[in-house]
Amino acid sequence: MSTTSQAALDPNSPVLSQLHELLLASGYCEAGIAPAIDEAPPLLPDADAEPTQLNTLVRLFFISEDCQPHNVAEAIRPLTLAQLLQAGVVRMEGDLVTAAIRIQPYGRMLYVFNRDTSDAAPEEALMLISSSSLEVAHLMTRRPAQSALDIGTGCGFLATVLSPFCERITAIDVNPAAIRAAEFNARWNGLKNISFHAGNLLEPVRGQLFDLIVCNPPFLITPIPAAFSSRYLFKHSGLPGDAFCINLAREASQLLEEGGYFHMILQWEEACDSAWSSNLEKSLTGLGCDVWVARITTVTAEQYVAEWIDCLSEAEKPDAEILTQQARQYFQEKNVATTSMGVLTLRRASHRQNYLWFDEAPDDRLEPYGASVAALFDVRTQIEEHGDAGLLRRRLRASPHLTLLQTSHLETREWLPSASELSLTQGLKYSFGDVDEQLLELLPIFDGKLTVKQVVDQLNIEYPVANDLIEINLPKIRELLWYGFLVPTDQA
Ligand SMILES: C[S@@+](CC[C@H](N)C(=O)[O-])C[C@H]1O[C@@H](n2cnc3c(N)ncnc32)[C@H](O)[C@@H]1O
Repeated sequence: MSTTSQAALDPNSPVLSQLHELLLASGYCEAGIAPAIDEAPPLLPDADAEPTQLNTLVRLFFISEDCQPHNVAEAIRPLTLAQLLQAGVVRMEGDLVTAAIRIQPYGRMLYVFNRDTSDAAPEEALMLISSSSLEVAHLMTRRPAQSALDIGTGCGFLATVLSPFCERITAIDVNPAAIRAAEFNARWNGLKNISFHAGNLLEPVRGQLFDLIVCNPPFLITPIPAAFSSRYLFKHSGLPGDAFCINLAREASQLLEEGGYFHMILQWEEACDSAWSSNLEKSLTGLGCDVWVARITTVTAEQYVAEWIDCLSEAEKPDAEILTQQARQYFQEKNVATTSMGVLTLRRASHRQNYLWFDEAPDDRLEPYGASVAALFDVRTQIEEHGDAGLLRRRLRASPHLTLLQTSHLETREWLPSASELSLTQGLKYSFGDVDEQLLELLPIFDGKLTVKQVVDQLNIEYPVANDLIEINLPKIRELLWYGFLVPTDQA
């Protein structure tokens, strides 16, 4: 089958511009086919669903189904089939119309990909916008910045999401096919502040500094790197273990402006008998940056190998058995017990002591929460620097996004609360279980005007006998502040 790549299309041609408008107006972005962080399956029209405009466009450009010419003609009006054929967007396959490209929506943006065909070279393959892309997109700070960098831009997704917030964005990819796609997508969506460079890692931007660097790297821990180097650049780095991501984070940290952020998703290896953070802590110390790692999942080395083998392409499947053995041996020799996946944020702070924080990620990361990450860095550095004495002087209030979920049990004709859980409904949606009664009474007193000391003193009036209230409650208050349940209303 002959294929047309988006490289042959002109994103600024009247036909392509009209197609963009038409897709937006059709409801293509809201059709339930946008990528989701929880990998919820897309809502696709059934085989017997009516050939409405939206169903036909989704069949043609998202599912890559061949469609009846009269349905396509109806769906693309006022464009004509002849115009789409001439522009190279579709072609005839016998009596049916087939799309030459695939179009994925996100927000009000549209991203074009080459059709995944059996004759496409693996190194030309681009990753669709996936849950890992969204993990980084939801993590990254979206506040005004002058210069941003997207390393391994692929279809250009992260660079385009940053476009409204940043003056200038540089997008790099080692794969020239990715750069062509990213450039097309930026232009098709009318974005003018992104420059694209084909090149390895940070080579194209040596000597430059950025306010914000984002990266969704080929993070798979490939236990047998030699077997995969240069194949499927979007998932295999060609380096063993987690070295690629760790080296990349270390190098990128040196390209950050003071106060600048670096966000990346990664997988890492964990040795037997040590904390999950142990290797990361060694690798990420001494960069001149504060570090926050939020762990999303952990699997045993054995599970990792099984899942990795499961995802091999058809061409690689015949080698599954030998690859499994070699992979097991690799993990055994390196003493790797488990591997984890998580998101890493660095914030450059070169002129003071740096802090490293390792947390579980909140389960719900469905919405962007980057602003809360910036707040987390601010609050935690203040707590680290000023200690308990500083904390007692702070003015705090309960987060406006705080909810309390209580379960009660019936006891002698009375409902008695048996468990209380605090949750945040926006930003970093952490939960705090087993909240005791005293803490529940304390929370509403945090009105943003009283200091922590004054709040605890008020509680003292109600519990005059418990004179160690500060000692009891300060660690809990610190923890609530640490995770965003309490927020400061003053400057530290
Ligand atoms: C996981 S994909 C991410 C694509 C896109 N940023 C996203 O989030 O959807 C990783 C990308 O990194 C690129 N890449 C791999 N090795 C690279 C290297 N050494 N230098 C620059 N880019 C690289 C791949 O070509 C691929 O496009």
